Amino acid sequence: MKILVIAGTRPNFMKAAPLITAAKASGIEALLIHTGQHYDDAMSKVFFDELGLPRPHRNLDVGSGSHGEVTARCLEGLEKVFVDERPDWVLVVGDVNSTLAGALAAAKLRIPLAHIEAGLRSFDRDMPEEINRVVTDAVSDLLFVTEPTGVKNLLAEGRSEKAIHLVGNVMIDTLDRFLPFAKKKAAASTFGLKEHSYALLTLHRPSNVDQPRNLQILYCQLAAVQERFPVLFPIHPRTRAKMEATGMLKYFESLPQLRLTDPLGYIDFLSLMVTARVVLTDSGGIQEETTVLGVPCLTLRDNTERPITIEQGTNQLVGASGEKLIAVLDLVHKESRPAIKRPHLWDGKASERIVRILVARSE
Ligand code: UD1
Repeated sequence: MKILVIAGTRPNFMKAAPLITAAKASGIEALLIHTGQHYDDAMSKVFFDELGLPRPHRNLDVGSGSHGEVTARCLEGLEKVFVDERPDWVLVVGDVNSTLAGALAAAKLRIPLAHIEAGLRSFDRDMPEEINRVVTDAVSDLLFVTEPTGVKNLLAEGRSEKAIHLVGNVMIDTLDRFLPFAKKKAAASTFGLKEHSYALLTLHRPSNVDQPRNLQILYCQLAAVQERFPVLFPIHPRTRAKMEATGMLKYFESLPQLRLTDPLGYIDFLSLMVTARVVLTDSGGIQEETTVLGVPCLTLRDNTERPITIEQGTNQLVGASGEKLIAVLDLVHKESRPAIKRPHLWDGKASERIVRILVARSE
């Protein structure tokens, strides 16, 4: 059996890695196809080095552009790869433009297609990822789901129960594998931070960083946050570009307790999450990782497609401009660290379950 795993952006690499390992362990020929949607060393290469990912079998080098441009370049390139390789399965992960393109190319060629992280819905079509999720799920043959709401959403969209499998979370497979290394690394001290007394911040969503007005509001919120805790902010290239273009970068840089750094590798970032007092983010995956680590996570969004992180985990929504950030932060500060409650099947074995199902389907 031969499978192609499609990855293109930073959050795809930690999902692709355990799938390839589990597939190879079952004697499957598993090849990684990199679309090149992310291409900087800090957004791509570092993850190959750290996660032990195989060199991509093909790299399409699509680079950046508008949604239409990136999706179209991925679609054209992936179609050619699929025709050449004729895999038994194409696996797409997550909800980025590379995911959507891989799904469309495979579905039109009638190559069996599996979506890993299916069924998540924010019900907010202003998020480009929501469109990618809905379309990818609609054309996938197998839907591998991380949390029960995903199953509910897919059934409500008319998908057959037979196609849906609640298998857990492949990103947590990677977290479990690398947590001992991250703990040993103790990255906080490298940045002069005291463990359990700093905030770790990431921001990159268009809804947060594309409008100058939002950046101004966020600046005011962060000015108040850094009076309470030192804040470390590994800055996504898109966010840096927007801050530079709007002239806001110098204001963020002038906050004495807010430290901006380049994007970090997986082990450093995981290490910093483990010993953070609180994580502030607009990322999807970080909401899940902090839940498993038992670290409070304040999400700068109005909604989440990952409600289990609120119901069972450590996540709280504080609004896209952080309207509720300071009030919630002050409450979190008073409380002791929450107990860790892992969602069902987030046990480091999701990739093995997926591979078992793929093998059974092919027999
Ligand atoms: C993409 C995903 C988003 C995911 C995020 C993780 C889509 C629709 N969005 O958003 O869901 O959470 O990745 O990071 O697919 N850039 C670089 N170097 C790089 C990559 C990007 O400088 O290696 C800059 C470019 O200016 C580019 C911008 O970042 O135009 C945005 O990159 P893009 O891949 O379009 O989207 P992300 O914001 O990274």
